[in-house]
Amino acid sequence: MKIAIINGPNLNLLGTREPEVYGNQTFAQFYETLKGRYPGVEFSYFQSNIEGEIVTQLQEAGFHSDGIILNPAGYTHTSVAIGDAVAAIKAPVIEVHISNVQAREEFRKISHVSARCKGTIAGLGLKGYELALQYFL
Ligand code: DQA
Repeated sequence: MKIAIINGPNLNLLGTREPEVYGNQTFAQFYETLKGRYPGVEFSYFQSNIEGEIVTQLQEAGFHSDGIILNPAGYTHTSVAIGDAVAAIKAPVIEVHISNVQAREEFRKISHVSARCKGTIAGLGLKGYELALQYFL
């Protein structure tokens, strides 16, 4: 089982970025724990602050993975290109948001990605990534 995790902009700052919204844990810490809990899963992890790099990574992972867990972060609300990439690839994609985007500013309620995904998990913190993984197992 090959699972790709793709994170968008500013998620490299988890742990220090607005901890009241996103928590205190770095993604590196969380990722190590996750890999330890699911030794049978072949994980890959990619993070970028650049929209086109996320599109390219979706295209690459999208034909070599059994599932993709995608947090497009701020690009969720702006990127037609990331939504199009999700629609163009073979692997099913689950959209994850750490915070409950529906309970925040109006602009966060719009997603160019959700309708192209298998499903969306939002508001459950980093646990959302693990729940998305469990769907694929
Ligand atoms: C986020 C929510 C987005 O609105 C925000 O721009 C992010 C993170 C989340 O995981 O809660 O960067 O995707």
